[in-house]
This record gives sequence, structure tokens and C-alpha cells, in this order.
Amino acid sequence: MGIEYLEGEGLFRLTAQDTEYVIGIGDGKYVGHVYYGKKIEDNRCGYLMRTEEAPFVPSKNLREKCSFADAFPTEYSTWGMGDYRDSCLNVRSSDGCRGCELHYKRYRILEGKPELPGMPATFCRDDGGQGMTLELECRDEVLGLKVILRYSVFEDSAAVIRSVELTNEGDKPLYLERVLTACMDMDMEEGDLLTLGGSWARERHMVRRPLAFGKQMVSSFRGESGHQDHPFLAVMGPNAGQDQGEVYAMHFVYSGNFMAEAEMSQFGSVRLLMGIHPEGFEWVLNPGDTFVTPEVVCVYSDQGLGKMTHIFHDLYRGHLIRSPYLHRKRPILINNWEATYFDFNTEKLLEIAKEAKKRGIEMLVMDDGWFGDRNTDEGSLGDWQVNEKKLPGGLTYLVEQIRALGMEFGIWFEPEMVSPDSNLYRTHPDWAVCIPEREPVQSRAQYVLDLSRPEVVDYVYESVARILRSGPISYVKWDMNRQMSDIGSACLGKEHQGELFHRYILGVYELQKRLTREFPELLLENCASGGARFDPGMLYYSPQIWCSDDTDAIERLAIQEGTSLLYPLCTIGAHVSACPNHIVGRVTPFETRGHVAMAGTFGYELDITKLSQAEKEMVEEQVKMVHRFQPLVQEGDYYRVASWQENHKYDSWQVVSKDKTEALLTYVQVLAQPNWHSRKILLKGLNPNAEYQLELIVQDKTKSGEMEQKFTGKVYKGSLLMYGGILIPRMQGDFTSIMIYLKAKASAPKTN
Ligand code: GLA
Repeated sequence: MGIEYLEGEGLFRLTAQDTEYVIGIGDGKYVGHVYYGKKIEDNRCGYLMRTEEAPFVPSKNLREKCSFADAFPTEYSTWGMGDYRDSCLNVRSSDGCRGCELHYKRYRILEGKPELPGMPATFCRDDGGQGMTLELECRDEVLGLKVILRYSVFEDSAAVIRSVELTNEGDKPLYLERVLTACMDMDMEEGDLLTLGGSWARERHMVRRPLAFGKQMVSSFRGESGHQDHPFLAVMGPNAGQDQGEVYAMHFVYSGNFMAEAEMSQFGSVRLLMGIHPEGFEWVLNPGDTFVTPEVVCVYSDQGLGKMTHIFHDLYRGHLIRSPYLHRKRPILINNWEATYFDFNTEKLLEIAKEAKKRGIEMLVMDDGWFGDRNTDEGSLGDWQVNEKKLPGGLTYLVEQIRALGMEFGIWFEPEMVSPDSNLYRTHPDWAVCIPEREPVQSRAQYVLDLSRPEVVDYVYESVARILRSGPISYVKWDMNRQMSDIGSACLGKEHQGELFHRYILGVYELQKRLTREFPELLLENCASGGARFDPGMLYYSPQIWCSDDTDAIERLAIQEGTSLLYPLCTIGAHVSACPNHIVGRVTPFETRGHVAMAGTFGYELDITKLSQAEKEMVEEQVKMVHRFQPLVQEGDYYRVASWQENHKYDSWQVVSKDKTEALLTYVQVLAQPNWHSRKILLKGLNPNAEYQLELIVQDKTKSGEMEQKFTGKVYKGSLLMYGGILIPRMQGDFTSIMIYLKAKASAPKTN
């Protein structure tokens, strides 16, 4: 790792493991992008900015400055001064004109990485995760605007982290109409764009399309990162795939509105942009004020998506998730949502808990419906008082009983919301986000609380904290079930209404910061109608996030494939639920549901008292499986072996321990094919020289026998398993799956 200023060349070189990111100063003033990719280690690379070949360099040919601006590979594009590609920064001055040109002034190289005020951000660790930061200071003298472009690297990561700080050093207000975080210009005439998209219950499906001339964008102005788009994009070079080819990716550490864009320009270059969505955004920067953007993680891989995934997983485990649970064993929980919906009471919960405890489940989570008068989703959000009609003796009694069983207790909240039918709304109608004189749009019969107001943040915090202080509650599911609309705040002045979206998210971050400070031992799981706020911003506060309301094992294959492209399995909330599945009505084997949920933070979402005896026994087997393999799943390297989304027949993934002594393969036969022999699967990530002993992991005892004989006890070399493959027998029935554990024999020679 390192950041150097190459004085003779006027270049800055950031080295992050086997990658290099080089920045130059074009024509003495303009911060330009020189190179990002595999290490080149040659200081003479500045020509890649093309300032030598262009006839348009402003210092030599001012009359064609516009042509220079419109082609120069900049590190931070500004609007209105000749660069017609999309910009990062658009500033309106107090006289109403727009236009900004940044000139490089000076640099600083710092040990470590500064925190971002009020926002989640990657951080250095004391135990070896050290980092360095480059700050490039630029100015627009006319506006009196100082802009610091910030780049950080960590010693154990290949990622480059970017953010921007803007300060008004003038004497008049400036109006930031658009402030994105990152711009990256690169030569790429052909390739693909990869994004993640979907909908409620279909989150984060992989979407790959050819890069085309013009702008291709994914975005959200829903006030949350969203089900529909994800704050991620990657461009993939020609022929790039799972294990080969070049990939450039950006991921936004933010939970609100975003845009991520790839623009292919007239000269065959591609500009990647990422930041807060400019729609509905305007920030007033008064003299002396500073605005800091959320950060963008940039990743380059020369070995396809697989390597990109490893870089993101290791970065997030090593430098983003704050929770002490990161490396701790997570409790196996049972959540009552799909079991009861709103129709529960203490007696029912205890009935579920008792059976769950008998089978080895460790925590009961009480979901929506325990407070106010909430028996449907029509009301009571905001009234966070226990409903003693449902829970006689209150929470105290219930929690005592659960703990007496030897289980932990967790609880659901949706703190950011208010129902029109609630005491809170009747008392403080102005606390809801709304436009004066307009009836706000309802969604799931609720409004959004105006978290730009400190008194609302205080109220919300106290209503959650008061409950948590009342007894030993180990876990909170923090939900958020609607998108924002009617963007208006009764408190922000008319000039500041464009700040509401961002101030709202800062309010959310403030709440979660307070919560994790006051209750450091609390296991926090974020959720937003399933996975509408599954993003790196929330991950900073909660080590796991509910991935999707769709718990169907087959739907989850695509959802979890897309999610695990970026997020380690230990962050992905995944539960076994009842069949027919409540979302799609599909019936899948109980065992397959277990295998799929095992690629996440394992739990149950069903009425365990209603399971058959055989299923209850399978729960016991699954619990044992989770205890045995959770450390491997939590800490290991994830490999995508096959994608059902691509082959339409089967899905497979693998987790391999960092030292390559253990691996776990999961294979799901989505559709059975007639007249077909066994299927060859090539394993990944093993030590080619090690001898691995195989073991079929059996939850469903009726399936042992022939299949076990085929695998259990067999020993093969890593090279055979990876290059020759293993043969998975054709299984009878759709949606069937198997899991095979591989353990290296002790004497295996090491590889690099
Ligand atoms: C959201 C969550 C669900 C459940 C319900 C309760 O949809 O994603 O898991 O908690 O809210 O209303």
C-alpha cells in the first residue's frame, strides 16, 4: 500500500495491493485521470492523459479550450465550462449563474483515513488494517469555492475509496445543485455494463447489457437506496466473466438517493459517475460552510467478477462493519412475521419459542404488531407503547419467559414512520414529511417522519431506547417500509427544502449511531420492506440486513447471487420459511430451504409448532449444520460456481476458508431434466496440491445412503476437483439440492 507524489512527473500514485491508480495534473491546473488497473510501476505514464498530443491544451491554444475540456479525462467533472459530458458538480452562485472550474492548488498525504462527519465510511483498523489518504485541493477562485478530492487506500485491500469536501471560502452563499462523489474517465470502446436491479421481493438481480453510446444510468430518488436499483455499477471489458477479464466497479456507501451512470462519449471513452442523485437536491453552502459527500468504493479486478467480489467482501468485513458481531457467532433466530403476521399474543409467542428451543433455535424475534393498537398495518406507527391486550404483563413478562427458556429475545421497530391513525400524528402532524396545503401521499397507510428535525430524531431515539432499556433485549430489526414523497419540511426554510432528502438520511445515521453507542452489545439488523436499504451505508451500523421479503428458496437464488456479488454472506439475512411459500406459492423441499438460507445469517420465519415431525427433526439437523459451518460461511471466500440465471437449470456456490483447508459446496438442481446423466461441476479456490476428503451434509435422513456412499469419505486432490470436477448425480425432482463439505488432509503442501 502506498501513496506517492512523483515529483518529476507531477503525478500521484496510489498503490493498493496489485493495483495502481494514477492521477496527474493536466496543463498545470486540471486534475486528470491517468491510469487505473494492474500495477505498471512506471513513472512515465502521464502521457495517458493525452495532454501532450492534444492540440487544444489551454496554455498553448486558448481559443480551443472547450475541445480540451470536453475530452480531458478528469477526476472531477464540473458543469458549464466546456465539458459536455455529465458532471459531478454544478454550482449556482448568488447572482444566479452556473459554472465552475477547479484548478489544482496543493496536495497532502496523510496517514490513516479521516472520518466523514455524520456519515458511514470505511475506516482503518488498529490490528493491521492501516490506511493512507491523498487530498488534492482545488479551487474555483471566482466562486471562492475550495474542493478537496480525497482518496484512501488500506494496506490489506485493493479498493480505492473516494469522497469530496467542499467549503465556501467566499462571502456569498453558493447553491450546490449537484455534488457527486466520483468521476472516472477511461478508454473503453466496447464492453458491458453490470448493475443490480429488481423490485420488492425481487431485489438485486444481476443486469448485464452492452455499453452503448450515450448515458446509461441507475438511480433512486425514493429517499432510500431502493428495491429497484442498487448504488452499484461495473463496466466489464470485452469477454470479462466470472473469473476472467477486466472489471471496474463503483459502490456507494450511502442509503439515500443516488445516481450511478456510465456515459460513452464521442471519442470512445467511458465516464463513470456516482453520487447523491441531483434530482430534488440543492444544498445551500453559506460562507464558511463545508459539505462532505458520502464515499464511493472503487474496485478494479483483472480476474473478472470473482476477484471483484473478494475485494468487496474483504473490504466490508475488514473496514466497514463496525459491529462487534462481525466475527461473532450470530444467534439462530426464529421470527414470527410469516408465522402469525399481526395475529399473536404472549401465549402464541411462547408456544413458538418452546418448540424452537427444543430444536436448538437460540432467539425469538417478535415482529410487527406488538405496540399501540396495531392489529393490521393501518395504524399506530409512532406509538411505541406495548399493547398489553396482546402481551399481558408487558414486555417484561414476555422477555423473562423467553429468557427462562434459555433463549434470547429480539424485537421489531419501524422508527422512521408515523401512521395517520396514531397518537403521534394527532399530536404532531407537522412532524411528517409533507408539502404545506397538500394531503401527503400515503404508502402502506403511513407517512415518513421528518428526520431533518433534531426534536424528531430525539423523540424517535427515545421511543426505541426506552424499550431497549426496559429489559434484556439482544436484537433489533430496524424496518423502513415506504419510500419518500411530498418532499417538504415544516422546519427547513424555503431555501433549504432541497436539503431534506440528505438531511433525512443523516438523521437515520444519527439514530443508528446513538443506538449502537448506547447499546454496543445489541445485534442490529436493518430492513426496508425486505431489502430496499441493503447498502454499504446501513452495513456500517448493522452487521446483517434483511435481504428480501421473498423467502422462497428458488427466488432467493437470484436475489442472493446479486447480493453476494458485493456483500459477504455473513451480512445477508436469510431464513427458512413455510411452504407453499407466502410470496410465490412454490413448494420446495425443506432441505433446499435450509441450504439456501445457509448462504446468509441463518434463521426461521415460520410457525414451528405447525411443522411435521420429520420437518422438526430436520430443523435440529439444520441447527447442527449451522453451528458447524457458520464460521466458514462467515469468514471464508465466496465463489460463484454456476448461475441458474444464466443456465436456467442449476445453481451452485462455494465457500472456502482463507487457508484453503475447508470448503463447502452447495448445488441446487432447480429443474430436473429427464434422460440426463450426472453433471460435472468444477470447484474453485482449493489448494491444487491438497488432498480433500469429501462429506455429504445430510439433513434429510431419507436421502442418505446411495448419495452418501458416492461422496462421503472419498479423497481427491484439489487439482482434480478444480480442473476435472466432481459429478453431481441427477436428482429426482425440481428444487432439490445437496451440500458437500471438503476438508484438506493435514499434510497438504501450501500454495500461494
Ligand atoms: C416489512 C419487513 C417484513 C416484516 C414487515 C412487518 O415488510 O420486510 O419482514 O417485518 O415489514 O410489517
